[in-house]
Parts: sequence; C-alpha cells; structure tokens
Amino acid sequence: MKSAISLWGFLGLAAAALPEWNSFPGHSPAIENRSLDQIYATAKKEHGSLVVLWGGDAVSQGQSTIDAWKARFPDIELNLTVDVSKYHDSRVNRQFQRTGSAGADIAVLQTVHDYPRWKKEGRLYPYKPAHWEDIWSTIRDPDGAFVPTFIYNFGSLVYNPKLLKKSNVPSTWEEFTRPEWKSKLVLTYPNDDDAVLYLFSIIINQYGWEWFDALLQQDVKWVRGTGEPAAEIERRNSTRSLSFTTSAEGNLSNIDPKDTIMYWPQTGAIFASTPRPESAKLFMSWLLSDDYQKTFNGSYLVRKDLSSTAGSVWDHPSTSLTQFSTFMENRETVEWWKLQIETSLGAAQGDISLLRGAE
Ligand SMILES: *[C@@H]1O[C@H](CO)[C@@H](O)[C@H](O)[C@H]1NC(C)=O
Ligand SMILES: *[C@@H]1O[C@H](CO)[C@@H](O)[C@H](O)[C@H]1NC(C)=O
Ligand SMILES: *[C@@H]1O[C@H](CO)[C@@H](O)[C@H](O)[C@H]1NC(C)=O
Ligand SMILES: *[C@@H]1O[C@H](CO)[C@@H](O)[C@H](O)[C@H]1NC(C)=O
Ligand SMILES: *[C@@H]1O[C@H](CO)[C@@H](O)[C@H](O)[C@H]1NC(C)=O
Repeated sequence: MKSAISLWGFLGLAAAALPEWNSFPGHSPAIENRSLDQIYATAKKEHGSLVVLWGGDAVSQGQSTIDAWKARFPDIELNLTVDVSKYHDSRVNRQFQRTGSAGADIAVLQTVHDYPRWKKEGRLYPYKPAHWEDIWSTIRDPDGAFVPTFIYNFGSLVYNPKLLKKSNVPSTWEEFTRPEWKSKLVLTYPNDDDAVLYLFSIIINQYGWEWFDALLQQDVKWVRGTGEPAAEIERRNSTRSLSFTTSAEGNLSNIDPKDTIMYWPQTGAIFASTPRPESAKLFMSWLLSDDYQKTFNGSYLVRKDLSSTAGSVWDHPSTSLTQFSTFMENRETVEWWKLQIETSLGAAQGDISLLRGAE
C-alpha cells in the first residue's frame, strides 16, 4: 500500500478522492449484473444533474441521446454538452490540474489517446457495463476504465442525389482531382480534426503530396466541423454536391470508395472524481444496451452479439478499427501531419457554425 500512496502523491491526487475501485492490477471491477431499472432506482438517490461531455461538432448530434434519456430516465437530469473532443478534453485537463476534479461525470469522445493516459493517471472510474462480454475486446480497456460506445467513420462519400447521380460519384481518391469536381467539393480542414487528418494521411500515403497539391487547385470549400459539409450540401442553393469528411444525414446519400477509409470507436469513460457514480454507471450501461445500440443499426456496432445490416466492422476490406488509436497516441506524428497540411492550406478559419450558432 505504501508504494500506492506515494504513486498517488506523485500524481498530485488525494487518496480520499479515489473511488472504491481503482485501476491497479488485481482490482478489476465485476461486470454489472443489475438491470437498468435496478441501477436507476439506486441512481435516483444521488443529487445534481449528470454532466456528460459529448464529442461532436453540431449541437444536433447530442439531441437524440438527450431525448431518449429524458424519456427513459425522467428523474435524473442529464446535462449533455456537445463540443469538439479536443476542446472537451482540454477543459477537463485544465479543470483537473486546477481542482483535482474533471468537472464532469462522463466523457464520450473521439480523442481516443486521452483514455489510456487518464487511466494511467488514476483519473478514470473503472466500470464494466452490462453486456461487457459482448463488446469487442480489442477496443475496450481490460480493466473497464473505458469502453467503445459506437463506431464512426470519415471517408464515406456523401453526396446530394438531386445534384449527382450515384454512377458519377468517384470511386477512388484520385478521381477527386479531376476537372469535373472543381468547385463542387466541401471538406473539413484536416488540420482542425485529427480523425480527418488521419484520413488525409492515409490518402496522401497512397497518392502522394501531388494528390493534395492537385486537390488544392480544386476550389474546395474548406469548413470547420464535420457536420458542416453535409449541411452545406443540403442547402437549397448550394453548388457543392460532394464531401468525404462528413456523415450522411437527412436527404443525402452515401457510398464507400474502393480506397481505404477510416473508422474509430467513439470512446466513453466515467471520471474517478464523479460525485454521482450510480447515475454515471446507469448512463454507460444504457449506452451499451440493446435499445441504444439499435439506433446505430446500419453502421458498425461495438457489440458482437447484435447484428447490423452493415455487417461486422472486422470484415471491412480496408480498414482496421484500432489503427486510429496508434496514430492518435503518437502526438509527434499528428503534429507533423497537421503542420504539413497547414503549410499549404493555412490555418482553419471561422467558427464551427453548427456549434456556435452562427447560422
Ligand atoms: C452481482 O454482483 C455482485 C458483485 O458485484 C455480487 O455480490 C452479486 O451476488 C451478483 N448478483 C448476481 C445475481 O449475480
Ligand atoms: C452543464 O454542465 C456544464 C459543464 O460542462 C456547465 O458549464 C453548465 O453550467 C451546466 N448546465 C446546467 C444547466 O447545469
Ligand atoms: C443561399 O441562400 C442563403 C439564404 O437563403 C443566402 O444567405 C446565401 O448567400 C445563398 N448562397 C448563395 C451561394 O447564393
Ligand atoms: C428532404 O426532402 C423532402 C422532400 O423533397 C423535403 O420536404 C425536406 O425539406 C428535405 N429535407 C432537408 C433537410 O432538406
Ligand atoms: C438491424 O436491422 C436488421 C434488419 O431489419 C435486423 O434483422 C437486426 O436485428 C437489427 N439489429 C438490431 C441490433 O436491432
């Protein structure tokens, strides 16, 4: 115990702030065996609203989760805020440094490199939600410090079917530099979003910087946020018909290119400083529940026992789900790519309009 205390001292943590379970070897928590209603009954006795940091770049990306929670668990107020993951995590890091508390109960983010570090620093509350055994083991933490909640991708080609025929949509990255795509593309600044940056690193590794230089001649509309390209394409009078840094919404269609695209597990964890551990457990078990996971039918799922019309992520021909973490954990590589892009493209301009209400 002595060495444990000095380790916590080294990390500047008060032993009293630690949860009952900690992330030391041999202290892995048991898998949740209560029903959601049983956890809810216990969680209702806790006070205050459950603060969830939700990675995203359009306010609308959190709405269905907020609405579904309200309908299912009306007695526990949910304060879920959407912001880009890199701002959520930076606020958590600052708050933690100042106060020793994360300032939130839960974070569900794209910045997958945060979680192993937060775990090492004793900042996460180990919890194995219900259905733990059914979550792909390569993307969950073996001690329950963090879990994947759903799987997103960039690289799928999103287009306006009113402006573009499916048969005319490119099938390789190389085709994007053809004259017919001049002034038609809307893309997210790769130097503003590490997942988009990772996709660009894949493409540039395949087709070279010549590809990127040619893309820069295409009068691309560069925007901040990955919700914005879809919004732009959907705008009634937009001349932009195609993107690959966004997800299909509403009336848009999407199709995968033959080339490699990227996927990542949007990852969630409970902070060790949570004053509402039962409410936090309820939220995590609910995210992994059949009811919540079903809403992702058509995408790849993090639970191997549930079937999706998309099939299994491990059968995708060209992308491994775990490589994004490797990229993200190597911050020097990330910085290298970011600056290479920025040198040609310039710094990201403007606000993330779907988050900051500029529309
Ligand atoms: C549920 O798990 C707890 C330990 O976390 C254990 O004490 C209890 O017996 C388990 N209940 C059932 C029904 O398995
Ligand atoms: C929700 O939580 C945020 C912290 O993420 C806090 O700034 C805000 O005041 C909270 N809102 C409400 C209504 O409690
Ligand atoms: C499209 O319409 C909106 C308002 O309806 C307007 O603000 C915008 O300038 C228009 N864009 C173009 C390219 O005409
Ligand atoms: C989708 O298409 C329908 C029918 O054409 C239209 O009424 C609706 O406004 C469109 N939605 C969006 C978001 O553009
Ligand atoms: C997804 O949809 C398919 C087809 O409707 C269905 O067979 C499958 O059970 C659904 N999966 C889930 C998890 O609901």
